[in-house]
Amino acid sequence: MHSIDMDLVEMTLDVMKYTIERISNVTPELGAPKKEEELFAMVGETITPSGIGGETAFKLFKDVLVKATVPIDHPRHLAFVPAAPTRAAIMFDLVTSASSIHGAYWMEGAGGIFCENQAMKWLVSLTGLPKDAFGVFTSGGTAANLSALVAAREDWRSRDEKHKAVKGLLLTSDGAHSSIQAMAKVMDTDLEMVLCNGENLTGAELSKTIANLSKEDRERLFAVVATGGTTNAGIIDQLDTIAEICEKENVWFHVDCAYGGGALAAPSVRHLFNGIEKADSITIDPHKWLFSPYDCGAVIYKDMELAKNAHSQKGSYLEIFKDDGAHGFNPADYQIQLTRRIRGMPLWFSLAMHGTEKYRDSIERGIELAKIAANKIKERDYLELVRPASLSVVLYRRIGWTPDQYRDWTYKNHREGIALVTPTKWKTNGEDETISRFCFINPDTTEADIDLILDTMR
Ligand SMILES: Cc1ncc(COP(=O)(O)O)c(C=O)c1O
Repeated sequence: MHSIDMDLVEMTLDVMKYTIERISNVTPELGAPKKEEELFAMVGETITPSGIGGETAFKLFKDVLVKATVPIDHPRHLAFVPAAPTRAAIMFDLVTSASSIHGAYWMEGAGGIFCENQAMKWLVSLTGLPKDAFGVFTSGGTAANLSALVAAREDWRSRDEKHKAVKGLLLTSDGAHSSIQAMAKVMDTDLEMVLCNGENLTGAELSKTIANLSKEDRERLFAVVATGGTTNAGIIDQLDTIAEICEKENVWFHVDCAYGGGALAAPSVRHLFNGIEKADSITIDPHKWLFSPYDCGAVIYKDMELAKNAHSQKGSYLEIFKDDGAHGFNPADYQIQLTRRIRGMPLWFSLAMHGTEKYRDSIERGIELAKIAANKIKERDYLELVRPASLSVVLYRRIGWTPDQYRDWTYKNHREGIALVTPTKWKTNGEDETISRFCFINPDTTEADIDLILDTMR
């Protein structure tokens, strides 16, 4: 199994051939899922005592299994938050795997961690946080949010013995991503949502909510989570006024920019994030709008020591990593994971190869595509914009359609390999309305792609 022979050479060539073909195909087949029984009927049992052989397994993957997946980088995949990793980043993901680097401690991963830290330095510079702020790459936005909020809670507990015996409380807006609610559950923390009715959370609303908390709840409040680009609508909370309230109330200020973080590099919208430089922690997902392959999130802290106090693991077999002889930056100290893939390396290589200006331009293109789509919607009498495009998200309605019609249209377009665009909900006059949503990430998406999709709603 570990020997180096002709089979290995052939497999390497097959893998490289597949990879080159796949990454140079800008319109891969828009695959669709099949039932597990159907897939089993097509491929049979693949795990056997003597193995089915690499050639057979790879053929099953290429001919059957990959076709039951939706390529996230398809230019007409505009659902959820899609992705469009650069070809350089994908190639370097292969290099990352081949290099077998343990990304937890400098002693083992120095050269790789150096690469990650170069990319991180650029990310931190986009936020405007003070000099000593820094961060680490995580498996995604959920893990980054959890890491940041655990650091916040530990800091709050360390400041008063009484806090150790009570459940903490988080405040966020109803536009926050579902991972905030999910991670509050993981942390056994209470979460209260400020209802914003489709607007952004402001310092004034936050202040009012805090003033209405009972004395006990005010004691339990340890962090506020603002969103820098809501997933559903691209809305950016009023970060500067929220920062002021957090400072006044002495609570941790976390900004979840998992989706919108890429836009920090876009001069046309950077001002919308003013106030982010006052955050205690920030989440940004390079696997969303910074063109990294899955999976790659990032958590950034104003004060790295607070993150270290919360996350640094201790164990007799880990002591050597903390010794002066092994001195260096240890990513394991700043987030929830110990053993970790050095997942910032593909981003580093792509950034180093292309430079930050190409990143800026590709992100601006996503914002421009959203504006172009909004104009095309306005030009069609059977469509209506629900709200102005925000970052790269466009919400619009097909006049007269019921929720079932949106659903049937989604399935039909997917089945026919035209596009994956899914419905969402929006509060209209206090009622949930089913509408359609675009999220642009991929600079390969064309105006003709947008026309093609909108025309199928006629
Ligand atoms: C604002 C926001 N936060 C957090 C997440 C969760 O990130 P991940 O899916 O990388 O865990 C998402 C994902 O879409 C998001 O948009």
